[in-house]
Amino acid sequence: MSPQIVVDSAEDANRLAHTSTLISPRFYTTDFAAMNRIDVSSVRKEWDQMMSEYEGDNNHDHFQRPPEFASEIHDMDPALKQEFLDFLVSSLTSEFSGQILYNEIRKQVDNPDIKQLMSFMARDESRHAGFINQSLRDYGLAVDLGNLKKTKAYTYFKPKYIFYATYLSEKIGYARYITIYRQLERNPDQRFHPIFKWFERWCNDEFRHGESFALIMRANPKLLSGLNVYWIRFFLVAVYATMYVRDHTRPELHIALGLDPAQYDYTVFRITTEITKQVFPISLDTDHPSFRAGLERLHLLSDRIAAAKKQGGVFGLLKQGVWATAAVATFARLYFFPVKHHALPQQIRMVPAW
Ligand SMILES: [Fe+2]
Ligand SMILES: [Fe+2]
Repeated sequence: MSPQIVVDSAEDANRLAHTSTLISPRFYTTDFAAMNRIDVSSVRKEWDQMMSEYEGDNNHDHFQRPPEFASEIHDMDPALKQEFLDFLVSSLTSEFSGQILYNEIRKQVDNPDIKQLMSFMARDESRHAGFINQSLRDYGLAVDLGNLKKTKAYTYFKPKYIFYATYLSEKIGYARYITIYRQLERNPDQRFHPIFKWFERWCNDEFRHGESFALIMRANPKLLSGLNVYWIRFFLVAVYATMYVRDHTRPELHIALGLDPAQYDYTVFRITTEITKQVFPISLDTDHPSFRAGLERLHLLSDRIAAAKKQGGVFGLLKQGVWATAAVATFARLYFFPVKHHALPQQIRMVPAW
């Protein structure tokens, strides 16, 4: 399966940012009154420490392009360029999704802790989104963020789902960026675009955003026990499976970086699982051969669904239905695959040590 939309013009880039599919980044809205009631007093010490880190803003000068940036942009093979642009647009969309959500929460609440946190995180995400959009602009493909904000569909999530999903996406974002950064640090000749040099300090922001949600959840232990553990399990499987399927739509990008998509994803899962032990009482056994076979089957089925969609007509539709049913069953098997259980550590916060 290749990227969903060929990006040839600014119009295509904007259209791609707007698409809502199972694997594309979404925009979220939530229950602001419930957000306003979040109490972090039981983790006050760690919270205040984190707030002073945000205030210190050690990345305030990081997202500016030096003059030599442009001279490091070279022509690339058209197939690689397509996947790279697809990667930039989807990264931009998820950074901007964070910016919009955090900013909206900041505006809607008067709880000083939450308001302050959201304004720091919106600040960071707006820098990240702006930085990626500059790279799209180099190709004449900048996304109109104002318009995207007004016209893209929003998904409503209860605060607890926002916490599970956003915590995971921040931590996975960290694990993805640091894995690419370390790979290119070892193999600088494979750094085919200068943006990758920014990933190390960049992903420390994402790591800290994840820490914020970790503290919020640990301050509200109900979110991490009882029936909610089934929700945590659902989000873990959904986020990991989505990432696995999506990364396999970009074979050229991974070849250029010297990474095998499956191996890259397993590395990211391992790092993410290590980190999520700070909050989640369970983790997925992503190194188990049967779990891996399930992910591989999901990837295969999503290729078949895409091919059936292309075929069109009654038979195409029928095939789509068959493969989609098989995909749901595969997802269910992954969901019920035995998980690992752990006790939560006393000290909640972690350092980005990868
Ligand atoms: Fe970000
Ligand atoms: Fe973030």
